[in-house]
Amino acid sequence: MSVLAINGGEKTIPAGLLKNWPPISATDKKMVLASLGDDKHAWGPHCDALQEEWKRWNGNRYCWTTNSGTAALHMAVAASGASAGDEIITPAYSWTSSVSCILHHGCVPVFADIDFATANIDPSKIEAAVSERTRAILAVHLHGLPARMDAIMDIAGRHNLAVIEDCCQAHGAKYRGRKVGAWGDCAAFSFNQNKCLCSGEGGIFVTDDEEMAASAGQLWSFGETRTPLQNRDYHAYALGWMYRNNDLTAAFGRAQLTKLDGYLETQRKNAAILLKELKSVRGLILPTEPKGHGHNWYNFTCRMDMKALGWNGSPARLRDAMMKAMNAEGVPAHTWQRYILPAMTVFRAKNAYGHGCPWSCPYTKDVQYDPAAFPVAQKHCDTHFGMTMPLRAPNDTKVAKAVAHGIRKVFENVGKLDVDKILAPK
Ligand SMILES: Cc1ncc(COP(=O)(O)O)c(C=O)c1O
Repeated sequence: MSVLAINGGEKTIPAGLLKNWPPISATDKKMVLASLGDDKHAWGPHCDALQEEWKRWNGNRYCWTTNSGTAALHMAVAASGASAGDEIITPAYSWTSSVSCILHHGCVPVFADIDFATANIDPSKIEAAVSERTRAILAVHLHGLPARMDAIMDIAGRHNLAVIEDCCQAHGAKYRGRKVGAWGDCAAFSFNQNKCLCSGEGGIFVTDDEEMAASAGQLWSFGETRTPLQNRDYHAYALGWMYRNNDLTAAFGRAQLTKLDGYLETQRKNAAILLKELKSVRGLILPTEPKGHGHNWYNFTCRMDMKALGWNGSPARLRDAMMKAMNAEGVPAHTWQRYILPAMTVFRAKNAYGHGCPWSCPYTKDVQYDPAAFPVAQKHCDTHFGMTMPLRAPNDTKVAKAVAHGIRKVFENVGKLDVDKILAPK
């Protein structure tokens, strides 16, 4: 077993051991078929029911179910009261939607570096990013680990800023005992295929504030003030999009919601096994769950300690080669993001809406994006790898143990990897 699979040895994880996500049961089939048997395929009773059930599950007063988490984030930016040219502070490392939602509303993203231990926005970097134009902080609970909401709320309170939570990866995660999405002024969740609650695609906007709910609702449905089940007047009171969910997807989401607590428990158990089995593997930095943070274990994100691995070259090269070696063992490791956000072309070229908009808008103050200003995000980006499948139901602790063996084998045999050969273009 000590010969790496990438060097011709035996693969650690046999084909077929890892099962696909999400598990589909009779409940899913019954509810989706019930929707199909009805005649409301756009907005329908399952959409309304999903909203009511999510409000109860997450503890929010208002919500709108959407066709994506990205749509819900855009609604959150609008609901925050931000106007064209206003600045919104967001972490330098996240999914692109955590920042494109800011551009979609004509606002200007200002990045703050992350904290290496948690990979979330570093509260100590936020204050330096605040200007007279800052309107909101958009915090991301990355990979299911809550951001430090007490520190973020404190800064927001002192500068009179709204707080938007990107909970797209963080269903059920808790900070100091309170679920995410119930800390800030408003929040967005995703129900995309890979998320802890999967309805194919989809999402939900949540808030406890009536005015924010109304503002988000206008953006959600053509700028109108009435929902599709109300007596619509088809009048655009504000600029709107078409971000509504549909009945089939909502039916699938409702079925998955009945199983979400059980899924989260499986994720916790599998993560505990991975943490135990991988403790003290040389060169491997394991994910943490600091006191007061309730991880939902959406993703098991590790980093590589290049020095401990005896590597002086480009960190991303060794990471990529080791990941290929892990994949050859059957470990479903992946790189989550290859670029930090300020290094992406849309910010370097400022090419969002043409003519340099929104950065060239008369209400905007010039903002520069220098990727070198975010060294922690860059280090995380270059050295990380993540996994979702080994955490997810129906995969159990036996699977998690096998995955841990595959990872340990690669780290213990790192000296036997021919990095140039592994990464040579085929
Ligand atoms: C942190 C984060 N924010 C936002 C999104 C966007 O969600 P969706 O794909 O549902 O639009 C994602 C999805 O991958 C995400 O991971």
